[in-house]
Amino acid sequence: NNQKSDSRGALIVLEGLDRSGKTSQSCRLLSYLEGLGHPVESWRFPDRNTGVGQMISAYLANKSQLDDHAIHLLFSANRWEKRSLMESKLRSGTTLIVDRYSFSGVAFSSAKGLDFEWCKAPEMGLPAPDLVLYLEIPPEVICSIIMFVGEIRKAAERGGYGGERYEQLEFQKKVARSYQMLYDASWKAIDAGLPIEDVEKQLREMVIWRSQTFDLKFLVLGSL
Ligand code: TMP
Repeated sequence: NNQKSDSRGALIVLEGLDRSGKTSQSCRLLSYLEGLGHPVESWRFPDRNTGVGQMISAYLANKSQLDDHAIHLLFSANRWEKRSLMESKLRSGTTLIVDRYSFSGVAFSSAKGLDFEWCKAPEMGLPAPDLVLYLEIPPEVICSIIMFVGEIRKAAERGGYGGERYEQLEFQKKVARSYQMLYDASWKAIDAGLPIEDVEKQLREMVIWRSQTFDLKFLVLGSL
């Protein structure tokens, strides 16, 4: 491999059920890589700051209704509107830690009953991750933790599990099954039921192991 492709950033994606700890782990991973002197940024999808992102946000908060196919395409459009920036960051050597990506798109929409292949189609051509870290935890466990935390948080604005449209146990079980159908060689599952520090340690090891990067690849049918 030539110098140029060796120096590009890695695209690292965190996936998992709602409240599986992705957001706090991506923060920790960001500080770790920064500390090692890597140019790195943390991103998330949906990116609620764009016009499309605001439509998604309103939908998730049950403030608007949309056809299941339409919201699926909005989630995908939200990734496409960030594609050129994502690509230029990677090519210029910045590593991106991304909290949710195309896999969430397919897992959540297919869990609603949309055709799996149809869900994959609009994702084709987006930059392909070098590593997908799947924070694995049984939906029942998340629900019980969240109900406990929810009691404490009841008065707080954000609320507990069930606050957003998809945060229901039966639905999360279906999402977990859809995720399993997406697993491939670029995935690493981590037991997210372990203490936060243990999960963090495993994520660090996997990221370091996978940091020698290759040419930028793009999602193709079958690679999702
Ligand atoms: P968040 O809690 O990580 O901001 O994600 C909001 C919800 O949107 C979460 O329930 C997962 C769902 N989602 C999709 O349905 N499709 C997608 O493409 C993405 C990125 C998220």
